[in-house]
Amino acid sequence: MSHPQIAPNLPYHPSGDQRFAQLDQTMAYYKHEPTALIQILHAAQHSFGYLAPDVLRYIATAMKLPLAHVYGVTTFYNFFSIVPRGKYQIMVCTGTTCHVRGAATVVERLGQQLGVKEHETTKDGLFSLHTARCIGACALAPAITVGDDVYGKLTPDKVPKFCQKDLKKYA
Ligand code: FES
Repeated sequence: MSHPQIAPNLPYHPSGDQRFAQLDQTMAYYKHEPTALIQILHAAQHSFGYLAPDVLRYIATAMKLPLAHVYGVTTFYNFFSIVPRGKYQIMVCTGTTCHVRGAATVVERLGQQLGVKEHETTKDGLFSLHTARCIGACALAPAITVGDDVYGKLTPDKVPKFCQKDLKKYA
């Protein structure tokens, strides 16, 4: 089987998954420089949706880095995920302004409504629940994002209606 879009002399994953070929090209672009690991992990997560163990192993081998190091960097930053994520990321701001306006209870109630805990994904694969430090919408506190959409003044008492009405449009 030939892969015309793959540059010659690059390693290639035996699964034949084209996303590994893209990853090869990304690593080659950065000349397999260890200092580019974060950019490479970003590109991999963008292609695969999350950073599964075989993807991390592939990157570590190709870049000649210890797997423990690649895994350590991946788990250090909360924008990387080693488990499958939902189609939409719900990010509840827990920064100071949102915190004083009940962000912790918003997280708790969203979790109850969606049947998940923080970092988990709903059974239908639609939403993952996360928290963030400040999403830059303090005037709208308590604020959350769903994908690229920002929702403000989402006080804990508004969470059930928000789930029944606003989140339905993502289904
Ligand atoms: S503290 Fe929540 S948006 Fe800034």
